[in-house]
Amino acid sequence: MKTLVVGGGGREHALVWKLAQSPKVTKLYAAPGNPGMEDIAERIPVGAEDIGGIAAFAERGKIDLAVIGPEAPLAAGLADRLRERGVLCFGPGARGALLESSKRFARDFMARHDIPEPRYHSFVTLDEAGRHLETLPDGPVVVKADGLAQGKGVVVAQNRAGARVALGEMMGEGRFGEAGKEVLIEECLSGEEVSLLTFTDGKTILPMLPVQDHKRAGEGDTGPNTGGMGTCAPVSVFTPEVAGRVDETIIRPLQKALREEKIDYRGCLYIGLMLTPDDSGAVIPRVIEFNARFGDPETQVLMPLLKSDLFDILYACARGELGDVRPEWSDGRAVCVVMASGGYPGKYSTGHVIEGLSAEEVPLDIGHDSWVFHAGTDRNDRGDSITSGGRVLGVTARGATLEEALRRVYARVDAIRFEGRIFRRDIAHRELSRRKP
Ligand code: AMP
Ligand code: GLY
Repeated sequence: MKTLVVGGGGREHALVWKLAQSPKVTKLYAAPGNPGMEDIAERIPVGAEDIGGIAAFAERGKIDLAVIGPEAPLAAGLADRLRERGVLCFGPGARGALLESSKRFARDFMARHDIPEPRYHSFVTLDEAGRHLETLPDGPVVVKADGLAQGKGVVVAQNRAGARVALGEMMGEGRFGEAGKEVLIEECLSGEEVSLLTFTDGKTILPMLPVQDHKRAGEGDTGPNTGGMGTCAPVSVFTPEVAGRVDETIIRPLQKALREEKIDYRGCLYIGLMLTPDDSGAVIPRVIEFNARFGDPETQVLMPLLKSDLFDILYACARGELGDVRPEWSDGRAVCVVMASGGYPGKYSTGHVIEGLSAEEVPLDIGHDSWVFHAGTDRNDRGDSITSGGRVLGVTARGATLEEALRRVYARVDAIRFEGRIFRRDIAHRELSRRKP
């Protein structure tokens, strides 16, 4: 099967790495891919957002399965375009992708189907939004741009004054352009966040292992929000009891909702959950957001834990035949530590040579169960790997225990050097603290 992965980040490297292990995959392409994949996939010089270019390549190259990584081409209708041309595709069409690309659409969708979510109101004028704000208690409140804003369109304001500033930037100054023309004001939920990615063919929704992301740039969850600085999976806050509740109150209603609204969703539906303890100590899961794609860096820990053939699962989703599929997962734990350019998520410099990438730099037992997924890397004229983005690498390790996975991942991280490198030393800190008396 000729398989094409669209995108060029760490998520796509992890997908390509796993797909390359499938005996069914005879030829693997990545558009545009990244240098980390070069020995397992052929890179096609077409950007992920070049809808016409990708559709033409997939049709001409008789691609058997296209897997779309990033949100922008999904929102722009790449999956629809591919399907029109007879190319099987893992990734929702533009209507399904609205669950991520319009936060108001997603909230209204959940409200229509009684899927638990925070209270919210949406506004198209600054005036109305401002007036609504004055009716709320002067405490934490969340202000969100409706459209895609590269993960920067959410402000968790500590009080009314902070929310007013955020509204002014989005609606008054047009900081996110079109994406910020409509704005949501949401109840601020507290608790622990879990990323629950699912495989779906539009009828069946199969959750993967629960993952915890670390969105803030600094240790102890401080500093600005980023695309994600590291992940661990599975996480024990997601107890069987919580899983049961999520199934009953979120997954089943979602399956019904997709069917009723005739959203033919074939892809990864990523459910961002907030787990809030109620007065009796029971945990109430609510949906913070949907993403219409795999998470990054969630995928970097899920792929090494997946025992089943990824191609089989994605192909079944694309064909609408997920019903009989039962993905199998390893018993171990995986941790991903993102190594980023100094200054990220603000300004940073690129072009620095990266050393210590090879598994030979670390002892064999570590090298075996650890992987370096490339995100923002390139090559210079001499063929050295150099930095080319904010998030540079997703260093990942697996272990029988969390401690073992952590020991391996940081041994690997410590061996990798580039000028200005930053990373968090405390990935999985919540999970670790839960285990200590
Ligand atoms: P998003 O860009 O939608 O992933 O949101 C970024 C982050 O903002 C989430 O991961 C949460 O930490 C936080 N967030 C979004 N909505 C809420 C909410 N209603 N209550 C509390 N935190 C939220
Ligand atoms: N890691 C968060 C995301 O992919 O949106």
